[in-house]
Amino acid sequence: MFDEPGFPRDADLEYSGMALETFVYCSRASKGVGDVEVNRIIDFSQRSNAARRITGMLVFGSGVFFQWVEGPPTEVKSLIKSIYGDSRHHDIVELDRSVDNRERLYPAWEMERVEADDIRTVLQDALESAEDENSVAALKRILVHLGSAPLASLGGS
Ligand SMILES: Cc1cc2nc3c(=O)[nH]c(=O)nc-3n(C[C@H](O)[C@H](O)[C@H](O)COP(=O)(O)O)c2cc1C
Repeated sequence: MFDEPGFPRDADLEYSGMALETFVYCSRASKGVGDVEVNRIIDFSQRSNAARRITGMLVFGSGVFFQWVEGPPTEVKSLIKSIYGDSRHHDIVELDRSVDNRERLYPAWEMERVEADDIRTVLQDALESAEDENSVAALKRILVHLGSAPLASLGGS
C-alpha cells in the first residue's frame, strides 16, 4: 500500500534501522461515543495516519478503547498529544511506549478497527509473525496485561 501515490515510503529504509515509536493504551469512551463516532474516528485516522506513515489498530468494545499505534517518533509524539487532548475518551492508561529499531507489526493497517472479541487473536498472530526481540517483548507485555484483566476493566473505573 505504501507504493501507491500518497504513501511515500521507502520500506527498505525502515528495515535498515529506522526508529519506530510504539504507543499502546486503553481508555474509556466518553458519554455518547458509540459505534458511529468510532467509525468517524477510524475514517479520519486512516487518512491522517497514511499521510504521517502511522499504522496500527483500534479496538472498541463495552465502552473501552484499546489502541496500538506505531510510526516515526516525531509523528507518533504529535498524535499522542492529540489523543490525550481528545474529549471523546478519558481515563487513558498507557500500556506500552517504546522507541525501537524494528519492523512494523501492522504494516498494512493505517488504523484498522478490530472487534474486542478478536483482540487476543490479533496480538497472538502478530507475536507469531514478529521477527525481532523488541516486538516480541512488547507483545508479550501486552498479552500478559490483557490476560490479567478483562478488557472492559482496563480503562479503570
Ligand atoms: C480512541 C481514539 C483514537 C484515535 N486515533 C487516532 C489516530 O490513530 N490517528 C489520528 O490522526 N487521530 C486519531 N484520533 C483523533 C485524535 O485524537 C485527534 O482528534 C485528531 O488527530 C486531530 O487532532 P488535532 O486536532 O490535534 O489535529 C483518535 C481519537 C480517539 C478518541
